[in-house]
Amino acid sequence: MTSLVLTVTETLRYRGKLGMWSWVLHRVAGAGTLVFVIMHVIDTSWATFYPELYAKAIEAYATPLFTVGEFALVACVVYHALNGFRVAILDYRPQWWRHQATAARLVLLGTALLLIPAFIIMFAHVLNYYNVRLPSEGRGFDFQFGLIVEAVIPFAVGTVAVLIAAGIVAGAAAVVPGLARRTENRPMKRSPLDRFMWSFMRISGLLIIPLVFGHLIMLHLIQGVFDITLAGHVPVGSTLGANLAAAEMLAPNFVALRWNTAVAGVFVWRVYDIMLLVLIVIHGIWGARYIVNDYARQRFVNRTLLLALLIVAIILLVVGSLAILNTVPATVESLASEAQTGQVLSAVGR
Ligand code: HEM
Ligand code: HEM
Repeated sequence: MTSLVLTVTETLRYRGKLGMWSWVLHRVAGAGTLVFVIMHVIDTSWATFYPELYAKAIEAYATPLFTVGEFALVACVVYHALNGFRVAILDYRPQWWRHQATAARLVLLGTALLLIPAFIIMFAHVLNYYNVRLPSEGRGFDFQFGLIVEAVIPFAVGTVAVLIAAGIVAGAAAVVPGLARRTENRPMKRSPLDRFMWSFMRISGLLIIPLVFGHLIMLHLIQGVFDITLAGHVPVGSTLGANLAAAEMLAPNFVALRWNTAVAGVFVWRVYDIMLLVLIVIHGIWGARYIVNDYARQRFVNRTLLLALLIVAIILLVVGSLAILNTVPATVESLASEAQTGQVLSAVGR
């Protein structure tokens, strides 16, 4: 903790060069995106396991505070992706290191060039929601703090539970004689796993770029959070849902329709989401491990946080994959007929 405070104060005092600020921004953007991803994967799995909860989560995503967070999230993803690209490429090309400063400036320019049109399109969705859709539903502007608190509480409780579990295991490991001695005062040597993960961070980052940009283009720009519950439309990238009754276009249906879309017998969005899930969870959690190792030096705190990260990674991979792989009715007819019976259509969860 003291090292985190020291880093923040020294960073502000030092007023370092562009390279240092790139590093700080990269770290903050990566950590911020990871926090969102943790909530997002758990929320999305509710479309399968608890459709009513998913509908509530999407309602919370449409509140004004979450909308502000959504703009920040897109900025984080775009900056981290472009800067990560710079880091990955230059790490493999030492002969280009003298162009570091130019590359860092290009990243800032590229981020601005991508964010300006993206923000304009996202803002158009926001204006349409508040000026057209809400009045047409007889609703007005409302912060809906209650909904936000409801959405955040399960994650706050989950975080505390994971930290307690990790603390108990770390504490127990510290008093088991053989284990305690083996882990004490080990020199910080780079293991083969560290070396492998160094390459993995770079290669996975490059693979994540098209996946996450594609996901954001579909679910932020072409259709946004507000469209997930928009009446009577076909979800982006789907061929299903055209004949769903307008009132049945509920949030879980949107996910079901995308996950049920098959091209040549392949559920394309499930394959896509599984790749995205596996890459970002391993990349993001390993990145968070660097951050923990930099700031949490005290042994017990360090072990507890690293174990907590491991637990979170396992939960995300298991819950996220189970949600994506869950049974689906094969045809849109079954989706539509279920919808017409007025049930919440959790199609993926049957
Ligand atoms: C979009 C494509 C992405 C690229 C090109 C990318 C690239 C990188 C690179 C090159 C690193 C440095 C690794 C190292 O120091 O060894 C890194 C670190 C990191 N990444 Fe990503 N990344 C991407 C997406 C993500 C996503 C989606 C998340 C969140 C889930 C994330 C979270 C992190 C974190 C937390 C770190 C550690 C930051 C630090 O040590 O300062 N990244 N990323
Ligand atoms: C607020 C912006 C976002 C919206 C509205 C959104 C929406 C969705 C939706 C509707 C799904 C369900 C499956 C599908 O339709 O393909 C989904 C799944 C997923 N999204 Fe996003 N997404 C957003 C941002 C992101 C970002 C920034 C990332 C990664 C950095 C991400 C990663 C994922 C992953 C990994 C899944 C699969 C989840 C699972 O395994 O259960 N999403 N997203």
